[in-house]
Amino acid sequence: RSVVKPIHDAAPSPKVKRRTKVSVIGVGNVGMAIAQTILTQDLADELALVDCNADKLRGEMLDLQHAAGFLPGTRIVASTDYAVTAGSDVYVVTAGARQIPGESRLDLVHRNVELFRSIVPPLARMSPDAILLIVSNPVDVLTYVAWKLSGFPSNRVIGSGTNLDSSRFRFLLADHLDVNAQDVQAYMVGEHGDTSVALWSSISVGGVPVLASLIGDGKGPEVVEYERGMLEKIRKAVVDCAYEVIRLKGYTSWAIGYSVASLVRTLLRDQRRIHPVSLLAKGFHGIDDDREVFLSLPAQLGRGGVLGVVSVQVTEMEAARLRQSAETLWEVQSHLGL
Ligand code: NAI
Ligand code: 2OP
Repeated sequence: RSVVKPIHDAAPSPKVKRRTKVSVIGVGNVGMAIAQTILTQDLADELALVDCNADKLRGEMLDLQHAAGFLPGTRIVASTDYAVTAGSDVYVVTAGARQIPGESRLDLVHRNVELFRSIVPPLARMSPDAILLIVSNPVDVLTYVAWKLSGFPSNRVIGSGTNLDSSRFRFLLADHLDVNAQDVQAYMVGEHGDTSVALWSSISVGGVPVLASLIGDGKGPEVVEYERGMLEKIRKAVVDCAYEVIRLKGYTSWAIGYSVASLVRTLLRDQRRIHPVSLLAKGFHGIDDDREVFLSLPAQLGRGGVLGVVSVQVTEMEAARLRQSAETLWEVQSHLGL
């Protein structure tokens, strides 16, 4: 430290308030999109980065530190050693293989489970009270793996899940209805990705339930059918759009960056907002109690992690789809030896 003091002390510093710390594991496309969104939104006092590629990690740390003149003053540290993350409030785990065009998220399972065996135990040791927020794919299976390997209570192990799919859904619905996406409430639930389930009855704009209002307006059955067909096309587009982005640019990053930053804000600031995230779903909507699977349901989040699960109305068909996803994930998990 310099002996030059550009600022003269006016009073002794008060006791420093507890600092909030977020650690991002994996500084690839997704980790860096999340890191930069957390920084620009001023969500943490300290940001720790970890990756196994030392040069890339140091390069990314320096590049972010060089933005100090434009950012509010988050301390940025990085190391290949997990000790740098000690005392984290939230871990965001993005390390691992990503899909190449043609691969599904579930195709990544064995590569990323092996990686998680080396990543999760040190995180749990370094910050035993932290919340684990899992992003690596297949996110629902890996959230289960992180839960098992960490020994944390399930309310502190969360997958980013369909928070992203729901934003895609809202964007496409807003485009179709010619309104602002932030005024559209709509949830995708279940597995992040291929078998995600659209909750039709959850779609509302400015408090008006879209499907019920169509029927209530006395529109003929052919209009209602047409609109249902459009909504079904939109649901399919939500599932397909990640594949399109991966085909076009090789990976997805910006939307997941904003999605995870919104979760980190709700968790750290104890905002008690509702987000569809991957959580221990056994017992909900007829999923058997012995099926320890993580699937997304709208949940209230805060400083303690998952504070509660919203009792959303689902049709029997939607519940059946959720149970089918649970069975598929359970089958995948039964071969992981955990
Ligand atoms: P990437 O290949 O750009 O980055 C992966 C990073 O993980 C690399 O920097 C690599 O060095 C690092 N890494 C590998 N092994 C590690 C270890 N043992 N310890 C620490 N770091 C390690 O991949 P990208 O595009 O960032 O994707 C990351 C993951 O996020 C993928 O699994 C991808 O499928 C997933 N993803 C999930 C989304 C979601 O909505 N849940 C959205 C987008 C991507
Ligand atoms: C996404 O949906 C690939 O899971 C990633 O963007």
